[in-house]
Amino acid sequence: MSRLKLKRVLVTGAARGVGKVIAERFAAAGCELVITDIQEELLAETRAELEATGTRCNAYVLDVTDVDRIAQVKEEIHRDMGKIDILINNAGVVFGGPFLDVSMAQHQLTYRVNTEGPMAMTHAFLPDLIDGGHGHLVFIASASGFVGLPNGASYASSKWAVIGFAESIRAELKHQGHKQVDVTTVCPTYINTGMFEGVEPPKTTAFLEPGFIADKVVQAVEKRQVWVLEPWIVKLTPFLKHCLPTPVSDFLSEAFGANRSMDHWSGHETH
Ligand SMILES: NC(=O)c1ccc[n+]([C@@H]2O[C@H](COP(=O)([O-])OP(=O)(O)OC[C@H]3O[C@@H](n4cnc5c(N)ncnc54)[C@H](O)[C@@H]3O)[C@@H](O)[C@H]2O)c1
Repeated sequence: MSRLKLKRVLVTGAARGVGKVIAERFAAAGCELVITDIQEELLAETRAELEATGTRCNAYVLDVTDVDRIAQVKEEIHRDMGKIDILINNAGVVFGGPFLDVSMAQHQLTYRVNTEGPMAMTHAFLPDLIDGGHGHLVFIASASGFVGLPNGASYASSKWAVIGFAESIRAELKHQGHKQVDVTTVCPTYINTGMFEGVEPPKTTAFLEPGFIADKVVQAVEKRQVWVLEPWIVKLTPFLKHCLPTPVSDFLSEAFGANRSMDHWSGHETH
């Protein structure tokens, strides 16, 4: 039997995109689902689809920037279903464009959703994971968390922070002896969800499919992997970035088209 069977998985930003497919994949592995998002109607549709497959699934409207609401939803989840075993910090936003053309409100919202959101969710739900037999924390970061991203400065840096946060929590849990809680950080390049509509993926890469990344996430939880770096070039990126002289890594970012990938970003509606 899969070690995921009957585990209770909370996914943020699960109404659509990668979060929705991750929820579907954990459901297929026999898990119970707790799905959350700010988009009430889409969330209800996703819940109905999951329940139609015979999955036990509850849905809660939850803005990951709202700490009071997180506490309230935690109580509701404990009352309705019990403690969770796996937390997937997936919700995220991006506002592309030259730094000065994007409003401060949008830059700040990016940090609040992408960085403070996972921190607040972890603060609320880590006790569930520590109390359980085996807990798992997953952070959907980004390959942009290893590099500088022109026209995406607040987005990329919000993901640098997530990577640092995930690594620190992982080290702290080990240091405290909580060997039953694993941490996985997921760093993909562009995924075909609409969030990065208009971008041109760097040379040697193409848009990833949400199902590909969702499968990697489920596999990482099953096998207790620390990193999901996709595609292959991302496995080399941190090494190249920190070992090559800066002019060489700058040259490679230009030559591979990473620096112009966001030039024509249009994205999709952010709620
Ligand atoms: N799409 C990509 O190319 C790509 C690449 C690397 C990493 N990621 C990351 O993957 C994650 C999912 O991205 P996606 O492509 O599915 O995006 P998406 O826009 O399709 O879905 C994001 C979901 O998050 C929800 N959300 C937004 N703000 C929220 C908030 N404050 N509270 C709760 N939910 C909120 C949205 O309603 C939406 O359902 C994000 O963290 C993103 O940064 C995406």
